[in-house]
Amino acid sequence: MNVRPARVDDLSGMQACNLQNLPENYTMKYYLYHILTWPSLSYVAEDHKGRIVGYILGKMEEEIGPDDPPHGHVTSISVLRSYRRLGLAKKLMIQSQEAMATIYRASYVSLHVRKSNRAALGLYRDTLGFTNNGIEKKYYADGEDAYAMKLPLQP
Ligand code: ACO
Repeated sequence: MNVRPARVDDLSGMQACNLQNLPENYTMKYYLYHILTWPSLSYVAEDHKGRIVGYILGKMEEEIGPDDPPHGHVTSISVLRSYRRLGLAKKLMIQSQEAMATIYRASYVSLHVRKSNRAALGLYRDTLGFTNNGIEKKYYADGEDAYAMKLPLQP
C-alpha cells in the first residue's frame, strides 16, 4: 500500500471512500477547495492497482481568534473496511501533521470526533497522543456530541 499526496484526479475516489465510511459527506467543491488551497495537507492510500483505499482531507484553520496561533485541522479521514488495522490511518495522519508543521508552521492540529467512535479515538488518543479539548454538544447532524481534540506539533 502506498501513501502519497492527493491530486485533483483522486477526488472522486476520495469521495467514494468517504461515502462508504462516514455519514459526514462533502461537496466535490469542498474537496477541491482543500486540494487547491493546501495541496500538501491531503493524502491518499492506494492499493497495488492505484485504487484509493483511504484518504485524509486536511487544511489550515481559517477562522482563528487573535490569540490563537496558526493551526491545522483534519476535516476527514477514513480507510476502507478491508484495509483497516494495517497502519494506514496512522501514516496518513503523520504525513499531514508533518506538512502542517513544516510548511505552514502550525503549532497544533485539531479535529472533531464522535464520542462513540472507538476506533478513531484509539487512533487519535492512544496512537498519536491527541488530548481531549472539550465537548461540542450536538455537533453532528444526528445530535451526537463531538470531542474536540488537539495535538501539539513540533516546529
Ligand atoms: N478499535 C480500537 N482501536 C483502533 C481501532 C479499533 N477498531 N482501529 C484503529 N485503532 C487504533 C489502534 O490503536 C491502532 O493501532 P494498533 O493497530 O497498533 O493497535 C491505531 O488506531 C492505528 O490504526 P490504523 O491501522 O492506522 O487505523 P486504520 O487504518 O484502521 O483506520 C480509522 C482507522 C480511520 C478510524 C478507520 O477505522 C475508519 O476509516 N473508520 C471509519 C471512518 C472514521 O471513523 N473516520 C474518523 C472520523 S473523525 C474525522 O474524520 C476527523
